[in-house]
Amino acid sequence: MRVCIIGASGKLGRYMIEHALERGHEVVGVCRPKSTDKLADVADRITIVPGRTDDPAVIAKAVAGCDGVLVVLVPFGVKGYSSGTAQAVLDHAEPDARVVFSCGWHITRDGQDRYSWRLRLTLPIVTVLARFFRFVDIDDQVEACRRIFASDRRWTVVRGSDLEEGPSEGLPVWSQHVGDPVLESNRTRRTDFALFMVEALTDDTLVGEAPAIVSRMSESALAHSGAR
Ligand SMILES: NC(=O)c1ccc[n+]([C@@H]2O[C@H](COP(=O)([O-])OP(=O)(O)OC[C@H]3O[C@@H](n4cnc5c(N)ncnc54)[C@H](OP(=O)(O)O)[C@@H]3O)[C@@H](O)[C@H]2O)c1
Repeated sequence: MRVCIIGASGKLGRYMIEHALERGHEVVGVCRPKSTDKLADVADRITIVPGRTDDPAVIAKAVAGCDGVLVVLVPFGVKGYSSGTAQAVLDHAEPDARVVFSCGWHITRDGQDRYSWRLRLTLPIVTVLARFFRFVDIDDQVEACRRIFASDRRWTVVRGSDLEEGPSEGLPVWSQHVGDPVLESNRTRRTDFALFMVEALTDDTLVGEAPAIVSRMSESALAHSGAR
């Protein structure tokens, strides 16, 4: 497959590059011009398209001819970076391309997620403070996902739990709703979040799904998924 990774220079992006190359995919990576140095060690194995991920011209160039697009959806700034990135991909990806987006558990598709009291208490506070300081606009990531859910693209929105570093524990398990017992441990290795994104490219059962993921080796997964 020819795969475009949007937000390639971040932690998640780097792991996705590794997994994609291991599978023999041809990789095109988009990252902010000031971050291209972060990809120096893989520059001879991937095509790098420098540019803002919400720039439609940059995205149109990068996704041309790609069978799959992996998007690190981040809500930085207060100028619609997340929704602009999602919209550029929805507008310009090839018609049959698999488009896979990353976000956190706070995104809900159908309102059926059941959140801990801690998240219910802290999210609105963090949302307001982060926007006040013009650092992050979580509501814009919500808007980005609303547009993805409403699109007729072959999309998947992967909702990551709290993340940790460390060697792979295998492909995470998933559930449709936060609050389901299998997800209770709320931890996933970042490399496995990336693995799930890359595997989703070839898993048609995930089209139109917003899987909330957790490490298959976590207590809750071992207890409730049959992963043991
Ligand atoms: N962190 C968590 O615990 C967590 C939990 C669940 C889900 N997630 C999801 O995982 C994804 C990435 O998370 P991550 O923590 O692993 O981060 P990451 O991979 O390091 O990604 C950060 C990305 O944001 C870009 N970025 C940084 N500062 C920016 C700015 N001011 N303006 C525009 N772009 C900027 C980075 O690009 P440069 O390389 O150019 O700086 C990089 O592509 C997101 O979709 C997030 O919602 C994270």
